[in-house]
Amino acid sequence: MFALNSAPYSFLLFLLVICRPSCSADDVDFLYQGFQHASDLTLDGSASVLHGGSLQLTNDSNRLVGHAFHASPVGFFLEGGRSHGGRRLASFSTAFVLDIVTIGSGGGHGLAFVVAPSTVLPGASPEIYLGVLGPTTNGNASNHVFAVEFDTVLDLEMNDTNGNHVGVDVNSLVSNVSEPAAYYTASGDGGGDNTKVPVQLESAQPIQAWIDYDGDSSILDVTVAPVSVADRPHRPLISTKLDLRPIFDDTMYVGFSSSTGKLASSHYILAWSFRTNGPAQPIDLRRLPKVPSPSTAPSKLVAIKFAAVACAGTLTLIAAAVAVVLWLRKRAKLADTLEDWELEHPHRFPYKELYKATKGFKESELLGVGGFGHVYKGVLRRRSGDEVAIKRISAGARQGMREFVAEIASLGRMRHRNLVELRGWCKHHQDLLLVYEFMPNGSLDRYLFGADRKVPLLTWAQRFAVLSGVARGLLYLHEEWEHVVVHRDVKANNVLLGADMSARLGDFGLARLYAHGANPATTRVAGTLGYMAPELRLTSRATTATDVFSFGALLLEVACGRRPVEPPSEVVADDGEASDVILTDVVLVSWVRDCALHGDILRAVDPRLEGCYDMEEAKLVLWLGLMCSQTRPQARPSMRQVSRYLSGEEALQEDPVLVCSGVDSVDFIRSSVSVMGSTSAGTMSNGSLHGGR
Ligand SMILES: *[C@@H]1O[C@H](CO)[C@@H](O)[C@H](O)[C@H]1NC(C)=O
Ligand SMILES: *[C@@H]1O[C@H](CO)[C@@H](O)[C@H](O)[C@H]1NC(C)=O
Ligand SMILES: *[C@@H]1O[C@H](CO)[C@@H](O)[C@H](O)[C@H]1NC(C)=O
Ligand SMILES: *[C@@H]1O[C@H](CO)[C@@H](O)[C@H](O)[C@H]1NC(C)=O
Ligand SMILES: *[C@@H]1O[C@H](CO)[C@@H](O)[C@H](O)[C@H]1NC(C)=O
Repeated sequence: MFALNSAPYSFLLFLLVICRPSCSADDVDFLYQGFQHASDLTLDGSASVLHGGSLQLTNDSNRLVGHAFHASPVGFFLEGGRSHGGRRLASFSTAFVLDIVTIGSGGGHGLAFVVAPSTVLPGASPEIYLGVLGPTTNGNASNHVFAVEFDTVLDLEMNDTNGNHVGVDVNSLVSNVSEPAAYYTASGDGGGDNTKVPVQLESAQPIQAWIDYDGDSSILDVTVAPVSVADRPHRPLISTKLDLRPIFDDTMYVGFSSSTGKLASSHYILAWSFRTNGPAQPIDLRRLPKVPSPSTAPSKLVAIKFAAVACAGTLTLIAAAVAVVLWLRKRAKLADTLEDWELEHPHRFPYKELYKATKGFKESELLGVGGFGHVYKGVLRRRSGDEVAIKRISAGARQGMREFVAEIASLGRMRHRNLVELRGWCKHHQDLLLVYEFMPNGSLDRYLFGADRKVPLLTWAQRFAVLSGVARGLLYLHEEWEHVVVHRDVKANNVLLGADMSARLGDFGLARLYAHGANPATTRVAGTLGYMAPELRLTSRATTATDVFSFGALLLEVACGRRPVEPPSEVVADDGEASDVILTDVVLVSWVRDCALHGDILRAVDPRLEGCYDMEEAKLVLWLGLMCSQTRPQARPSMRQVSRYLSGEEALQEDPVLVCSGVDSVDFIRSSVSVMGSTSAGTMSNGSLHGGR
């Protein structure tokens, strides 16, 4: 008897084991990497999936409501839980990328991630209700609605605290918990994630949000960050205890809701992943669909032209005809002739858009002229007045253009807070145009040498923060991105400062264009004198170690307030010791070495700081500068080590060997100076990217 019964019994046991407690066969796990093939989605109201794959919840017309739900219900209660008395709620985790585009300023009203008993939300109203609830249902406990709102309007009726916040809503649009949109990051001194960086929800930039709920502890975490932030912030914006058991029915639907009112924005979801009882699959941020740029109305213009023609006399007709011919000609001139391969690479801007943005590459919009080309300021009107810097490179019929564009387009996917963002590119006849984010405060060298009296000198703390930032950017290029990227032109000119004086490294990969084996007699040396590692003369091969050498020159330059190579006339002899003057004439690194040799490395620190600096940090920067300036590439530290020294994770040994080990590099720089002759040494390829001259 017993033997007969044991088989089904153990089968039952087996079932029990595999289904408890968190391995329900009903676990839901999906990832929409763009929505073009999303079959399991129900849409209503103004929601639609656009051609490019983005999910548009509303456009910017007034008083719209749009919903998008995952069509299959999600079971939120664990089967095994009932036997323990109370019911156990599943954990869930979701990540999505939202993008809110407003023409002009002040759109509305925002969007929400929603968990609801049905894909139809009864009484859903636009404006302040975000399409989630309505005036008759708001606050009613029988709603069984949970939402996390991303609200862009200050509604006093909903007790909002500001017009750009994230809130946790239960059965009501009056949030239980709400915070101004922001993310936490570690402050420079490594004291935990305490620095709060605001996030502008209506920025027309993709923003990622994460919502994680732990069914056992009832802790809800909400995190937001622009996708340009390299890593998910460790500390969530909102972390709150919230018992969802009374709110959730056995099965619920998950999705999004959005509305507009008199204030209106276009609301998009670009990607979405969701999972119960496990972390949501990560979204591939490099494959986000593009949102359409808000349309201007060219058809109107044409209509007006025709109207004018119709009611005018013959003379006007002729004039109009001439105008039209001129217009057509200009249009033809601005039109792009595309080669097949150009269509393969994302982030391509139409030439016409860049032409308009710079008022036809007008002289008045010129920000700077450098070795690599002219840089213009541009305003992309179609993207709500976005300011950009557009670099125009007359590349000629250069070989390797196709490969170069492929490389540039792939660099365009790179996002790091210490790298200038490359927004896109355009090839027009012989010219290559690169579109960068605009950095209003210009480049680092303006603030270092005191030549421009309109700007203040950088304080030591600012200098140290800038160096740490550049080190992080370079580390990302060398070790943390999907390919190793050698910058090839690290120098003060290429370090740009944001509105908060944070550092961003620009122009990466560009020197490559000039390294594509063109005639050396006519080609500028890729790299800049004084920043160029000695082995480059022998091998011509840029490596991460040659970048480290350049970074070493930058360290010394920033600490000393002097260029790596100074023409004799600019030298300020501060104490008249003859040998000093001769060395200072030529090469900064050798002067710093000399100070170190005399046991007084701090003598090299910029005298204009008037002694206001942190001695330990200054010593660190100067010794590290010497360490990176060593002749033998193998002896230089990697950027990871450099970052560890700068962040204080590792202590730097003040090694007198460094003082003697770089003689060759000094010789090299000296001999290069004499070869180059008198051409403003130190600024050979003065490719200043942006910023106020
Ligand atoms: C915006 O969406 C609404 C609803 O889907 C539609 O009726 C309207 O035509 C759209 N407006 C524009 C400018 O696309
Ligand atoms: C809450 O909603 C339920 C069901 O729709 C309804 O019967 C009830 O009257 C509502 N309560 C209030 C206070 O409006
Ligand atoms: C809004 O906040 C005030 C003060 O905190 C409170 O008295 C009021 O009840 C709140 N309103 C709603 C609708 O919750
Ligand atoms: C959240 O708000 C709802 C409605 O105001 C209230 O019933 C509930 O107790 C609140 N929950 C928490 C955790 O504050
Ligand atoms: C940097 O730019 C911001 C914004 O344009 C400006 O407010 C600030 O004064 C600038 N700082 C310096 C030092 O120029």
